Amino acid sequence: MQKSRRDFISALGQSALVAHTWPWLNVGKLARLGIGASAFSACGEADQADLEFVANLGLEPSELMPFLGGIQEKDWWLKGNYAPITEEIDVEDLEVIGQLPPELNGTLLRNGSNPKHEDPLFWFFGDGMIHGIHFEKGKAKRYHNRWANTPASRDEAHGLGAHRANTSLVYHHQKLLALYEVSPPFELSPNTLESMDFYDFGGALESPMCAHPKIDPITGELWFIGVQQVPAQLTVSMVDAEGTLQKQESMPLSGMYFMHDFQLTENYVVLFEFPLMINLDILSGGDPFKWSPELGARIGLMPRTGSLSETQWFDVEPGATFHSFNAYEEGDEVVIESCRILPKEGDDFFTRGDLPQAWQWRINLMNQQVQEAQIHELPCEFPMIDRRLQGQKHRFNYGLMLSPASPDYPMHPKGIYKHDRELGQVDHWSLGEAVQPDEALFIPASPNAGEDEGWLISVVYNRQSAKSEVLVFNAQKLAKGPIARVLLPTRVPFGFHGLWLNRA
Ligand SMILES: [Fe+2]
Repeated sequence: MQKSRRDFISALGQSALVAHTWPWLNVGKLARLGIGASAFSACGEADQADLEFVANLGLEPSELMPFLGGIQEKDWWLKGNYAPITEEIDVEDLEVIGQLPPELNGTLLRNGSNPKHEDPLFWFFGDGMIHGIHFEKGKAKRYHNRWANTPASRDEAHGLGAHRANTSLVYHHQKLLALYEVSPPFELSPNTLESMDFYDFGGALESPMCAHPKIDPITGELWFIGVQQVPAQLTVSMVDAEGTLQKQESMPLSGMYFMHDFQLTENYVVLFEFPLMINLDILSGGDPFKWSPELGARIGLMPRTGSLSETQWFDVEPGATFHSFNAYEEGDEVVIESCRILPKEGDDFFTRGDLPQAWQWRINLMNQQVQEAQIHELPCEFPMIDRRLQGQKHRFNYGLMLSPASPDYPMHPKGIYKHDRELGQVDHWSLGEAVQPDEALFIPASPNAGEDEGWLISVVYNRQSAKSEVLVFNAQKLAKGPIARVLLPTRVPFGFHGLWLNRA
């Protein structure tokens, strides 16, 4: 049943007051971060156009640290909202609190690990489950979820070598592909989420496809890397706008590097050879990664029109990066931004490590010098931009704020933020530990909308209800809280990456 905004004004007035007094908000700390009052004043200064605004639509803040629950002996990725769900369902006409923008027409897709037959050795190795939430003319019309029907999910392949299709999704040349670091992509129907099969571009693909391919919005090309561990080898590939694999360049790596992401500018493929290594101790239940700063770290710029052997390599301070925002060329420089971790010996990141920070490298192609620096102090992960600006100079970074691990709970998201890189302002929304968001996608309000003119959308776990929902934010008024909550008919386990399929 859909409720009107006015109903909520009376019903939720008290909640709104609570939300205005976020107990965790440390003004002194925020001042040190350079976050201006404007970032937060929105909550208390409703203008005429916002008279009906109801803060957080009934969501209330909490500082209680999350707990996992479940079977004590199980690993953390099998408990709490990391635990898998057991059914595939289809539900129509979802309950919405607040108002969905009528222009938001499309499907939000999420992918994550949802083990079906065996408990995986780590969070990353469960069977892929894809969740779809369809929006149409101001309504949330449908939720459905499906396992990627791989041999592993059919109980025909097992262990670390099995391909799980669980990490992310890409849509290119009318193909929806579920991605998994060490395998070819796995094709799904974009309408039904039914599985098709592994897809190798007509037999041409000779490497895995990483989880973070890039689509050049100007050329329509799909670029990706693939890392094979035995023997260790990196492959850079390009599929043209017509879906034909046109480029496939390989080079040996000197070790088992974890290269999860890369970047793409107008003229370069940007490679991160950072000393976070695959740790074979994972086979006996150990940490999945080994931090090896003695190997150094370097960023490579491979000419898009050239080969890997023409890559220019630039030494940088050792660090590790899972995910990057964007990269672009500006004058003589290549600018690259990423979430960067500086691990300690023995870190496994999720339960003991420091939190990632937003980081920028500026590579000067004239004098070959690299400048690097942290760009704000908010710990962050799951970086996002307006993907229409992939490879071009952009203004806004989006991402998730993080809470550190406690003895009982891994590092986890606690809010959504936006960094205006031009003004140096950080804006954010968080209800402390009450609502745990997954990756927030930016959706432009229309094809011609300017950067930041659109919505941020995230599947979140509501700890109070112990259920999942979708929150939609006006990206330009993020601190005001969600404009709509879509209540989902099932819990959506914390996952990895998603995709917006526009149906306008
Ligand atoms: Fe990722």
